[in-house]
Amino acid sequence: MIKVGIIGCGTIGKELAKACQKKFSEDVTLEALADVDSAKAKKLQKELKPRPLILPYDSLVKRCDLVIEAASAHNSYDIAKKALLLGKDIMVMSVGGILGKEKELLNMARAHHCCLYIPSGGVVGIDGLKAARVGKIHRVTLTTRKPPQGFEDAPYVIKHGINLKNLKEEKVLFEGNASAAVKGFPKNINVSATLSMAGIGPERTKVKIIACPHMLVNVHEVYVVGDFGSFYARTENFPSEQNPKTSRLAVLSAVATLERILKNVKIGT
Ligand SMILES: NC(=O)c1ccc[n+]([C@@H]2O[C@H](COP(=O)([O-])OP(=O)(O)OC[C@H]3O[C@@H](n4cnc5c(N)ncnc54)[C@H](O)[C@@H]3O)[C@@H](O)[C@H]2O)c1
Repeated sequence: MIKVGIIGCGTIGKELAKACQKKFSEDVTLEALADVDSAKAKKLQKELKPRPLILPYDSLVKRCDLVIEAASAHNSYDIAKKALLLGKDIMVMSVGGILGKEKELLNMARAHHCCLYIPSGGVVGIDGLKAARVGKIHRVTLTTRKPPQGFEDAPYVIKHGINLKNLKEEKVLFEGNASAAVKGFPKNINVSATLSMAGIGPERTKVKIIACPHMLVNVHEVYVVGDFGSFYARTENFPSEQNPKTSRLAVLSAVATLERILKNVKIGT
């Protein structure tokens, strides 16, 4: 049995914890939880049977075989580094936090014979992008549209004093590369980090972020041009009920990645 530890007991962490105990109970034991907010960890612990331990994240990493980070871009790099240096597999959800450091992490994973897993999250098209990268890619662009309230605490919005209240029509908040996008919108645009890592890197991946009033879905449009031809992938995501910044598909993608890790047949690129 693989011992799983989950850091971050919010929307994604909770769903994964439940999946460990129901869907994947033959393959894994949910060993431990960690959260900066101990009340959240305790609340989730009570909903689970058997009850996992609650540990500081350093201890959780030492005790588990597979660590799942579903906490924050502030510490996803630190968690990934600690896990990989101890030879533990790690799944990272807060992908923006490791952007630019992925080569270092991949070297650690290679040296310590373990794996770094990055789910597709709330975007489709990663499979095609990974295949296209084997040849030459000329261009990757991501256009993201979300309701304005999801952007209110974004550092870029605060820094530029952008008023998102009473928007009547859509407003372009940001145009630039993925590297700048994840710094300005760390909770909103993990998908741009994932696309960068799967494709042509954070400097060349272009991102446009648009606030759309009256919108009920989060829309990601990915356009890729390469020697293979081109593709356009559009995802219309319902936000999750618990956290409007997180798409339902991102939660499902985390569970599907766990399934991919555990099962012997791996479908898709
Ligand atoms: N890869 C993707 O496509 C994708 C999609 C959605 C969300 N995310 C990211 O995944 C992470 C989890 O998303 P969520 O919707 O579950 O968020 P959430 O806010 O519902 O839950 C996050 C949990 O982590 C805890 N936490 C925050 N900082 C922490 C820290 N430093 N150490 C330990 N615990 C900490 C919080 O207390 C909370 O319980 C976020 O960083 C989010 O941006 C990624």
